[in-house]
Amino acid sequence: MDSRRMGRDLDKVLLSAEQIDQRLGEMAAAIDADYAGRELLLVGVLKGAVMVMADLSRKLSLDARMDWMAVSSYGSGTKSSGVVRIIKDLDTDLTGRHVLIVEDIVDSGLTLSWLVANLRSRGPASVEIAALLRKPSEAKVHVDVRYCGFDIPGEFVVGYGLDYDERYRSLPFVGTLAPHVYA
Ligand code: PRP
Repeated sequence: MDSRRMGRDLDKVLLSAEQIDQRLGEMAAAIDADYAGRELLLVGVLKGAVMVMADLSRKLSLDARMDWMAVSSYGSGTKSSGVVRIIKDLDTDLTGRHVLIVEDIVDSGLTLSWLVANLRSRGPASVEIAALLRKPSEAKVHVDVRYCGFDIPGEFVVGYGLDYDERYRSLPFVGTLAPHVYA
């Protein structure tokens, strides 16, 4: 992305690429320890989780399987409603598997709350969540995030998989979007 345009569109860098990389390393070490001797299935939620999945999975020592889901939340604009539709389902039968959902962000918690219940109904051995970001101030339902990267303020953030209108996903850091972009 053009750095001058980025400078105008972003208010600040909230989390640098180095901070993200270090925190993902810590999360991977915890996951390695917790799942030692067990077969792990990472479930990435498209599209925002692509960067987290790519970097977190490569920091794991254990050889995790990987699968993907795409879901759509009916809602107005940028807010999710909790009514979720599956756009792309898993290819994997979850029966007896240890599942770790990989997400970029837990905002209201409605998407993940629905997803956890949905995956738990498929007979897995366990279902846990790893999310890079969480906005405690925006939570509408409690979601138990076993591996959380950072708690952040309720600002509009983009980058590292997170978009605004499908832009900024490829930024290597997480930044705060300037209000004039979405005003
Ligand atoms: C984001 C994020 C979560 C969800 C979190 O996805 O990846 O899935 O919103 O919001 P919630 O906690 O309020 O439910 P989004 O719907 O923006 O789709 P994307 O991953 O394709 O960008």
